Amino acid sequence: MTQDELKKAVAEAALEEVKKIIDKDSIVGVGTGSTANFFIDALATIKLDFDGAVASSEATRERLKAHGITVYDLNGVGTVPVYVDGADEVNAHLHMVKGGGGALTREKIIGACSTKFICIADESKKVDILGGFPLPVEVIPMARSYVARELVKMGANPVYREGFVTDNGNVILDLYNFPIDDPLSIEQKINNITGVVTNGLFALRPADVLLLGCADGVKRIT
Ligand code: A5P
Repeated sequence: MTQDELKKAVAEAALEEVKKIIDKDSIVGVGTGSTANFFIDALATIKLDFDGAVASSEATRERLKAHGITVYDLNGVGTVPVYVDGADEVNAHLHMVKGGGGALTREKIIGACSTKFICIADESKKVDILGGFPLPVEVIPMARSYVARELVKMGANPVYREGFVTDNGNVILDLYNFPIDDPLSIEQKINNITGVVTNGLFALRPADVLLLGCADGVKRIT
C-alpha cells in the first residue's frame, strides 16, 4: 500500500468511529494536514448527518466549506464530541508531535475542547521516543530571539521557519535533534517561556484513540 492509501484507510476508519458518536446536532472537530484532508473528504459523504465542524486552520476551513460543510467559530460551540487529526509523530502513550504544517495552536485548542481525540496516522509516524521530527514552537514575532536563547539553554537547537507565518500571525521555531524523553515536563517547560504561544507536543492532552494505518490493516490503539 502507498502512504496515501494508508492515510485514506485510517481516515475511513475514523469516519466509522465518528458515525457512532455524532447526531444531527453534532459539531465535529477537524484537524489539518494531508491525513486530515482524507478525513475531510470522507466526512463530506455524511454531511447531512451532523450540523457542522470547527476547523483547526484556515486551510481546513476552506476544504470543509468547499464540501458544503458549515464551519463554526469554536467560541460559540463549547466542547466538541470528537476531534480527528493527524500527527507528525506518536508514541505508545498517544503523546504526539504535531505542527509540521504550522497549525499546532489551533489544533491544541480544539484538542483541549474535545471529548474524544482520534489521531489518524500511517505507520511511519509511530515512534518509541518523540523528537526525531523537529518540534515546532509557535512564538510571538517580537519574542523570537529571546525564546530561541531560552530554548538553547534547554539544550535545543531552534531553527526559525523562515517565510512562514501562522494563521495567528506568529512565527515558528523548529527544534531539531531534541529527544523528548519526558513529554509532559518538556511540553510545560517550553510553554512557560515568555513569548511562546504553544509548542507542538501533545502530551498533557494526548489522543484517546490512535488509528494506525499498517500494511496489514488499520490498528486501533488506546
Ligand atoms: C499540522 O500543523 C500538523 O499538526 C499535522 O496534523 C501533522 O503535521 C500531520 O500532517 P500529515 O497528515 O500531512 O502528515
